[in-house]
Amino acid sequence: MDNNRSSFGSNFGFLMAAIGSAVGLGNIWGFPYKMGKSGGFTFLLVYLLLAVFVGFIIMVSELAIGRKTRLSPIDAYRAVSQKYRWIGWLAVAAPFLVMSFYAVLGGYVLQYMSLNLAELSFGLSNIFSQQITGTATFGAMLTNPFGCFFFTLLFMVICMVIVMGGVSGGIERFNKVGMPALAVMLLIVIVRSLTLPNAVEGLKFMFVPGYAVKGGFIEEMPGLISVLGTAGGQMFFSLSLAMGAILTYGSYLGKEENLVSNSITIVAADTLIAIMAGIAVIPAAVANGINNGVPVNEIALNGPKLLFVTLQDVFSNMGKAGPLFGVIFYLLVLLAAISSAISLMEAVGAHWIDMDLKAGKGDTRKRITLIVSILITAAALIVAVDGLGSNNIHPAALLGITGPVPDVIADWLDFMDCWSEGIAMPLGAMLMALMIGWERSPELVLEEVGHGNHSPFFAKFYSVCIRYVAPVVMAFVLAGQMIGFFGGPEALWYAVAFVSLAAFAGFTLAGRKKAE
Ligand code: PFF
Repeated sequence: MDNNRSSFGSNFGFLMAAIGSAVGLGNIWGFPYKMGKSGGFTFLLVYLLLAVFVGFIIMVSELAIGRKTRLSPIDAYRAVSQKYRWIGWLAVAAPFLVMSFYAVLGGYVLQYMSLNLAELSFGLSNIFSQQITGTATFGAMLTNPFGCFFFTLLFMVICMVIVMGGVSGGIERFNKVGMPALAVMLLIVIVRSLTLPNAVEGLKFMFVPGYAVKGGFIEEMPGLISVLGTAGGQMFFSLSLAMGAILTYGSYLGKEENLVSNSITIVAADTLIAIMAGIAVIPAAVANGINNGVPVNEIALNGPKLLFVTLQDVFSNMGKAGPLFGVIFYLLVLLAAISSAISLMEAVGAHWIDMDLKAGKGDTRKRITLIVSILITAAALIVAVDGLGSNNIHPAALLGITGPVPDVIADWLDFMDCWSEGIAMPLGAMLMALMIGWERSPELVLEEVGHGNHSPFFAKFYSVCIRYVAPVVMAFVLAGQMIGFFGGPEALWYAVAFVSLAAFAGFTLAGRKKAE
């Protein structure tokens, strides 16, 4: 490959960029709630086991394939696989679709940060003699498509400028400052949150097994299989796996860097930040609800409502310092969203940047990034205008279906999420594990990891996980995602997931002997 291909300036810079990709909205608005609802410490244990046996294994694999080939996902898969030459396309379509809603959410965060900044600077609520409540603000925002699109565009421009700056001059530079800043802001918010009266109820919800039911937050505990699916899906999305992002970052990493210890650091940091984010938001949300007489089962602790309704109420009720904490908090979320979004954009554009470089056209990063940004913005337009299904242009409305509908057609965000996080991600990871474990051999990755002299224990551990554990766990995750998006009889989705696993496994093995 061309010597002029981009690379990270240092291992620390790479780590900040990879952790930046991993730490995002998923950590803040998904993990804490899922942990509380699905059994507190018990969920954490399941999550950690999955992270070690599958997340870490796929992380090492993606980094190794990226670095070995020094190619972007589309070309990397072409270079290493006969049967799955096309997986790289999944790893470009998925980040594209994720960006189509991530950018809209980033736009929401920008709006809330501006709102709190305006309140801090001019006392908006005094001018309009009205308190800024979460529910009213959220409703007003969603039904204002023009505003949502404008802020989506602003978010895209910020990300575009960073990615145009290059791997070390843009992405690495942003993360080297952004990630430490995020950690400091998170600590400030944690201290404020934990000193609110009744904050301990939130801590119990998150950590004490079974407290979600006992404390009245939810009616019943989900079953073990469902916990497995939830934890697996959350872990994959949170670690940015099977979306081309980590593979692409790996392709910019120096040969001398240690892929195993880097992967351990990324997984550990992402999990730690997810737990810290939980301690920052859940106790504050629960305490504020209780202190204002809201029944705990009515406090929204998950998804967009946690960020944009519940937490805005926390800041509005905090008195004079509220807007200041609001600005700090939404800035922190914005940093997390940008650092994830730029990795998605890099994964989408890298193939074409490489192609031009190889064709002797020089560095066309700026032009390609501009085109990628325009295409993503066009897809994001529909998600922005849809306002989470508030404006009657959601897929179900267009299809003329009324009444309760499955999530996948309830709004455009879920529709985009279903194809990317729901299908492409678990399927891509399952196929990658089959490709490495069975079509090729675990040596493909092990050789790159240790340059031929990795420890025997790691080699054994890696081989068993990539061949057996990862494909089976991914089938569970696939089923879990389908149940979430399509609803209906759970057994059906398990059957679909395991039949696809069997079909792909058969396809992978067929003719293998002959080829050898
Ligand atoms: N890991 C990010 C989060 O937790 O929000 C989302 C994400 C970023 C997923 C980049 C995939 C990806 F490639």
